[in-house]
Amino acid sequence: MFLSESPQSQDAYRGLMGVLSDVLIKEFASSSKPYSGAEPQQVAEALQHRPVCPELPEEEGDVQSLLERVGAEVLRHSAVVTHPACAAHLHCPPLMMSAAAEAWIGATNQSMDSWDQSMAGTLLEEELIGWLCGLYNLGSSADGVFTSGGTQSNLMGLLLARNHYAWSKWGWNVQKRGLPAAACRMRVLCSEAAHFTVKQSAALMGLGEQSVISIETDDRNRMRPEALERRLIELEEGGLLPFAIVATAGTTDFGSIDPLEELAAVAEQYGIWLHVDAAYGGALAMSDRHSGLLQGIGQADSMTVDFHKGFYQAISCGAFLVRDKARFQSIRLNADYLNPEEDEDEGVPNLVIKSLSTTRRFDALKLYLSLQHYGRRAFGEMVDHTVATARATAALIREENGLELIAEPELSTVVFRYVPAWCPADVEEGEWSDELNNAIRSRLMSKGWAVLARTSVNGRRCLKLTLLNPRTEKKHTAIIVRKVIETGEILARELAASIVHKGEKTGC
Ligand SMILES: Cc1ncc(COP(=O)(O)O)c(C=O)c1O
Repeated sequence: MFLSESPQSQDAYRGLMGVLSDVLIKEFASSSKPYSGAEPQQVAEALQHRPVCPELPEEEGDVQSLLERVGAEVLRHSAVVTHPACAAHLHCPPLMMSAAAEAWIGATNQSMDSWDQSMAGTLLEEELIGWLCGLYNLGSSADGVFTSGGTQSNLMGLLLARNHYAWSKWGWNVQKRGLPAAACRMRVLCSEAAHFTVKQSAALMGLGEQSVISIETDDRNRMRPEALERRLIELEEGGLLPFAIVATAGTTDFGSIDPLEELAAVAEQYGIWLHVDAAYGGALAMSDRHSGLLQGIGQADSMTVDFHKGFYQAISCGAFLVRDKARFQSIRLNADYLNPEEDEDEGVPNLVIKSLSTTRRFDALKLYLSLQHYGRRAFGEMVDHTVATARATAALIREENGLELIAEPELSTVVFRYVPAWCPADVEEGEWSDELNNAIRSRLMSKGWAVLARTSVNGRRCLKLTLLNPRTEKKHTAIIVRKVIETGEILARELAASIVHKGEKTGC
């Protein structure tokens, strides 16, 4: 049952990996669709007809049958992230090397909390963190840690900012004493387009969502520095305590990048912590053509970068970086069984002191193997390709009468909507268009033609293509665009007929 020094276990492992690969290729990689189209009930039924934990294994050690069965029930109905028409979220296809490295990560099961559970792993993660601090120009005192992704990294940024503020303003140690009385006056500022995890972090930190102030954005969905400054002045005049600004480098819907240099100047002037959420846009640093868009990121006090987005890593893989490593002191804990203080005196590195997780995956390994195998230039070219595909797709949409492009793409997302040519009598035009856009998205998915995302802009339902997949080309998005229009026309007729039918039945 365990891979060990015994030749039998090694043969069994090789056999298992062979079958795993075969089923994966058959049920997932070879799929001609981005989704099978199965409805939730169909998938649930297939899964529910067996006990989750049988008393004895059904397949009696027959690995092939087990994997084929589960492959058909689960892999076959998965989002095929490698398919060019799987374009909903910031959900990347993993590089083959990253996916393969997961086998090493799983089999070696290193845990990144302490040196005695991940010796080389600890040092490799530190190497990668050092490289990342350099990539983002965070200076020689910078440090960081791998995280489960943007949610955890954003929480860490705000947590460290809050603790630092309470300590420097009142000599108050939040870790030991809990929130100070003035916590209800503490405020975080971010743009209207910032990710919801800013509010979620504030809520988790006991400050409540009320502590998050949204700052207006410009016509490209970027935070307005002058609006930020105005709001800071108002808050301070009102006796409130702004302690952190969260800038976004790559907003989820539009890929917009806040003006980092200007925001850094405001943060410095008012003595406020600047956290940059570069979960999405962080990958731009790998591109020769687009890295300039991140100008100013090195002035951040802390930042988020996700590798399971534009670095094409298997989920989960992210990092939190901080400009002054001393800031980690405010969350450090020493447990006698895990990372006693004497370890530090002896120079033994235990990464748990920088992390919110205790047991933690060795995610750094897959990023390292991918960087070593493909090299920086390949990553940069993938970023460039996705940005170019988004621009080309936006141009296609702009040309179509039946579609409205909501904004020019900033990175690799394209937000648009279907504009119906007509509207049934007695139906409000906006509602008609919302209903159709929702229905188009569902129909494209249930037919297995494309997986698109949806969002709302100015209260109106829109469709979103997130073109993070470097395999997606203009020829693929052109097909999706055509399908959206054709499906919109068909659905308009179907929905209008069902309205008439309902009206006849109710006598209205
Ligand atoms: C801008 C931004 N920040 C943070 C997050 C959260 O990241 P994760 O899903 O890795 O926790 C996302 C997710 O899409 C995001 O787009």
